Amino acid sequence: MQKLLITGGKKLSGEVVISGSKNASLPIIISSLLFDDPVQFENVPKVKDIYTLINLIKVLGREVEFDENKEILKISKKNKDKYFAPYSIMKTMRAGVLVLAPLLAKFGKAKVSLPGGCSIGARPVNLHLDALKKLGAKINVKNGYIDASAPKGLLGANIKFSSISVGATESIIIAAVLAKGTTKISNAAIEPEVIDLIKFLNKCGADIKYNSKRKIIIKGVNFLYPIKHKIIPDRIEAGTYAIAALITNGKLLIKNVNNDHLQNIFSVLKKIGANIKTFKDSFVIFRKHQLKPFKIITKPYPGFPTDMQAQFMALATQIKGLSVINEEIFENRFLHVSELMRMGADIEIKKQKATIKGIKNLNGAEVMATDLRASVSLVLAALSAKGITTINRIYHLDRGYSKLEKKLNLCGANIRRVND
Ligand code: EPZ
Repeated sequence: MQKLLITGGKKLSGEVVISGSKNASLPIIISSLLFDDPVQFENVPKVKDIYTLINLIKVLGREVEFDENKEILKISKKNKDKYFAPYSIMKTMRAGVLVLAPLLAKFGKAKVSLPGGCSIGARPVNLHLDALKKLGAKINVKNGYIDASAPKGLLGANIKFSSISVGATESIIIAAVLAKGTTKISNAAIEPEVIDLIKFLNKCGADIKYNSKRKIIIKGVNFLYPIKHKIIPDRIEAGTYAIAALITNGKLLIKNVNNDHLQNIFSVLKKIGANIKTFKDSFVIFRKHQLKPFKIITKPYPGFPTDMQAQFMALATQIKGLSVINEEIFENRFLHVSELMRMGADIEIKKQKATIKGIKNLNGAEVMATDLRASVSLVLAALSAKGITTINRIYHLDRGYSKLEKKLNLCGANIRRVND
């Protein structure tokens, strides 16, 4: 197993180029199962979750070519279509459950393993399954597998989600695009990643309309024709590097971003005391004055993203005063807290609320990565800490950050990846 050794205390300066969004790539690549002709995606990040998805798409009978230098992914039909998504792949990537939708829509049947356990919460898939049933699917969950069929094809329906789910919204968009009739979704997720999926499908001939009131209307079409699509930049990766600049009291130019998608993060950073200057597809960030404590509550987009909560907590450890973070999306997303405390952080947890008392210095320690964003919060903490931090189990980090240590080292960090 690999680990990172980080020597803290270096001010970062320079440029970071942001990769394509992992969470936009996953559903968009999965939607390619709806197509008969080859599809091509640009700006696909070289991260472990994408390689896991490539394996799943291959198991389902598609041929996949990934040009890692150009970050271009091509998917075409190979042999016979397969409808079976095994546990061996699904256990490592929850987003894999989205394949149920295109398989049902295109072939009328699917057998998909329930996704594996997850450290940040139970993460059930009831909203996906209930909504697919409304579209006419028959679903039977047995022995860890979702056995689904739609003998008469999927039919448009009205779906009102009882709570907002990114994945369930994406499932239903993918399922309804080729369904007969119109599907109306209320209380839909409107994250930029969901909108990127809609934009891709619309370019390919789908008829999907959406508004900021969480309504999505999908008129089923008979076929989709493939158009090349460039995946949006990863807003969470960009936000993470913004914190890296602030936590080290450095200055970074962060390139290949969509600043519109970052407004919810920028508004908090500006209140804390960041100077952010935006350009067409980049921004510069550094401290304007001494940073001030903050309060955040995670919410569905356009609210503050749960995927940035751990990074802000690392920053809060370095801000004098009390900062408060309420995690409202996942029930168990404070796994980084005990590890930050090993580095000297002063954090109190009460249910879904964390209160962080800023201290002068964190100290390097041996810590363990527990999920993707928790892991990167430890990297951020280590960049600002005195001495060397060893981060174990970094496979979590590799799931979603492309060339993390290379990007940071180019800006003056001191990070080494070593084998156990
Ligand atoms: C997506 O997960 C992201 N993953 C997550 O990013 C992100 O944290 C999350 O959205 C919230 O923004 C991908 O896009 C691949 P949800 P998703 O369905 O779709 C509950 C990262 O670090 N729920 O919006 O799985 C669920 O338990 C990852 O990159 C149900 O109850 O999230 C959670 O409490 C981690 N039943 C809430 O809804 C369901 O059927 C929101 O989850 C589905 C979800």
